[in-house]
Amino acid sequence: PARLVVLISGTGSNLAAVLAAIEQGTLTGAQVVAVIADVDAAGLDHARSCSIPTAVVRLADHEDRAAWDRALADEVASHAPDLIVLAGFMRLLGAPMLERFGGRIINTHPALLPSFPGAHGVRDALAYGVKVTGATVIEVDAGIDTGRILDQRPVLIEPGDTEDTLHERIKEVERVMIVDVIRDLLQAAPVGPPTTTLEADRNTAEVTTQ
Ligand code: GAR
Repeated sequence: PARLVVLISGTGSNLAAVLAAIEQGTLTGAQVVAVIADVDAAGLDHARSCSIPTAVVRLADHEDRAAWDRALADEVASHAPDLIVLAGFMRLLGAPMLERFGGRIINTHPALLPSFPGAHGVRDALAYGVKVTGATVIEVDAGIDTGRILDQRPVLIEPGDTEDTLHERIKEVERVMIVDVIRDLLQAAPVGPPTTTLEADRNTAEVTTQ
């Protein structure tokens, strides 16, 4: 199966949806081989309860941002991923991740890009007063939520919505869409045996699980 590495910072409901889809057989040919966070994310418990290796790569544990970027890329590489899924990962990826895994990283965002990119997609859409927002899955590039759009689904804003109520409805849509996108990507580009590079990554990088 294709090796998925999922990066999270939060509750991990999208991660849980991917794990459930694999478990229930609605997403086949995929395996989550590691869940990596930048903080002690609550969602790591989903991984632990499925006996999936986890790692936390904290910015504060590294000398500077560049060192953290390298450490994150090394940790990810140690799991030899075919596809990297950012599921509520709240930091931008640096050059080490993009150079090594560019074209194989997807991100789910709680707004209809290119509207409302960044860390507060739900809040910003509400504040602007749009009547329709939604969720977008993109291929990650060096910009802030600027990558190629892979899928996008609308959510209507209702009178009385708060950031929380709206975000919950968006997440319901995201949980379905992220699984659909992963399935589509794997069908479009089935994964063969690991390449030499991936094998080399797996053998040389240090694995820090907890
Ligand atoms: C999701 O809504 C995701 O789109 C958002 O964080 C939430 C994570 O929820 N990501 C961003 O805002 C990225 N800019 P989860 O931890 O329950 O999956």
